[in-house]
Amino acid sequence: ESDELILGLETSCDDTSCAVVAPDGRVLGAATVSQIELHNQWGGIVPELASRAHIDKVLVAVDTALTEAGVDPARLTAIGVTRGPGLIGSLKVGVDTAQALGYGWDKPVLGVNHLRGHLRSADLEEKRVTFPALILLVSGGHTLLAHMTSSADIRLLGSTVDDSLGEAYDKVARMLGLGYPGGPVVDRLAKDGTASIPFPRPMLADGLNFSFSGLKTAVRNFLAEHPDAPPADVAASFVAACLEVLEVKCRRALRQVEAESLVIVGGVAASPQVRQRAEAMCTDLGVKLCLPPLRWSTDNGAMIGLAAWDYLARGVDVGLRPTSSLSLDL
Ligand code: KG4
Ligand code: ZN
Repeated sequence: ESDELILGLETSCDDTSCAVVAPDGRVLGAATVSQIELHNQWGGIVPELASRAHIDKVLVAVDTALTEAGVDPARLTAIGVTRGPGLIGSLKVGVDTAQALGYGWDKPVLGVNHLRGHLRSADLEEKRVTFPALILLVSGGHTLLAHMTSSADIRLLGSTVDDSLGEAYDKVARMLGLGYPGGPVVDRLAKDGTASIPFPRPMLADGLNFSFSGLKTAVRNFLAEHPDAPPADVAASFVAACLEVLEVKCRRALRQVEAESLVIVGGVAASPQVRQRAEAMCTDLGVKLCLPPLRWSTDNGAMIGLAAWDYLARGVDVGLRPTSSLSLDL
């Protein structure tokens, strides 16, 4: 009962999510309202519709999380809310709500970097990450490698120069007529196919940056030339190219920095194929693999709550201005 608790709120994209989180990562209550059905009919996220749906659901998510936790707002230490990066209208709904609640409940409100939330998601429910760690973040909005020596010391090693990995999955899904979000469907379809098509592995040869736009275009061109190709084979070949790129970059990074563990976070970390490949690689290298539970791989309020604790511990206040693009260090 003497637990300190933070309310984490996340509305940067297409999930309205809230959770009550302790400093050690325990999640006492959580609720996520997904907008997948709303956006699915358009084949992608429509920002204006996203903002409106957040307005509709944000207080429901807050109420549900608090009720599940059995926590009165008076017991909260603070509120943490995603202030960026993300869709500006969506972010504004979260930030405005957090500010209003903070004012009403007389609680401090901390702006949280969404990327730092993902980076900490592998420590939700139980502590998994041991430092120093190599972090691979693969989401719909970002793809990057970072080196962490503590929850506060994060150094960016490389990132995508064009599309994110999740974006590539989503676009390939769209080409195959599979709907949104594409990651899970492409991943499932790929299991039944043969990786027989030699799609390119962009920027494989050197460095720690990524590029996925050329791979996406190669899939599009292939489909134009071979409209009757089995979709499962196309998906399997695409996934094989992605997995090889991820593995080569991780192995290269692990040769360059000291790391006890490899932490893979972000929506694409929910992929069973990504998880299997990472397990095999980590066994081979003797590196500890740390993965967030599936529920905390995609966007959620719990990771924002846990990251908010880091800001409190460091005494850092980055303000609350919603910001569409934000680097890791802010
Ligand atoms: O982290 P996230 O929920 O939102 C962002 O911050 O972007 O990531 C969403 C991305 C989408 O591109 C989605 O297609 C992908 O994660 N994703 C997956 C899987 N589940 C979600 N990709 C591959 N396999 C999955 N099972
Ligand atoms: Zn995210």
